[in-house]
Amino acid sequence: PLALHTDYIRDHIRTVPDWPAPGVQFRDITPLLQNPKVFRVLIDEFVHRYFDVRPQAIAGLDARGFIIGSVLAYELNIGFVPIRKKGKLPFTTVAESYELEYGSATVELHTDAVQAGDRVVLIDDLIATGGTMMAGKRLLEKLGATVIEGAAIVDLPELGGSARLRESGLPLFTLVDFA
Ligand code: PRP
Ligand code: ADE
Repeated sequence: PLALHTDYIRDHIRTVPDWPAPGVQFRDITPLLQNPKVFRVLIDEFVHRYFDVRPQAIAGLDARGFIIGSVLAYELNIGFVPIRKKGKLPFTTVAESYELEYGSATVELHTDAVQAGDRVVLIDDLIATGGTMMAGKRLLEKLGATVIEGAAIVDLPELGGSARLRESGLPLFTLVDFA
């Protein structure tokens, strides 16, 4: 990515101290989405990354991964599959539990969301401990798909999640680091 673009994206991420819990520096992407020029620059970074890769699907992580993942899938003319928090998906599901920077959660995926052998890009807004993306990867792998890359706008490298994900063999593409 062009430094000009990543600086522009970084400048539209708002930091909210001590939210939702004391000590958490919350990196809020809503200003990025609100501004149509920077929203387009953001989505185009991912479109350019994956245009020639031709994945079979984009899998987005609940809830902020849906916002960028669905637009990316639309632009790539491929399907979008949601990985949802427990209890939201109506059909048969596979499930995985994990720990968050604040709390714990279970995510689910419809068993017919992807086919065995599919190459899938897994996307979210942010990687903190990496637990959410790791759980999403496991869900897709349970169905026989290959996660060819994990993508996010923001990485918080000090929390170690991106390093752990890479150690697990998942390539990552992120645009902005915050210490
Ligand atoms: C946030 C964020 C990622 C996840 C990152 O979602 O959008 O999905 O946490 O944390 P991790 O790397 O430590 O797993 P959150 O669970 O707060 O849900 P939301 O998208 O519904 O706000
Ligand atoms: N999800 C987990 N940690 C976060 C943070 N610091 N900012 C925004 N979303 C998050």
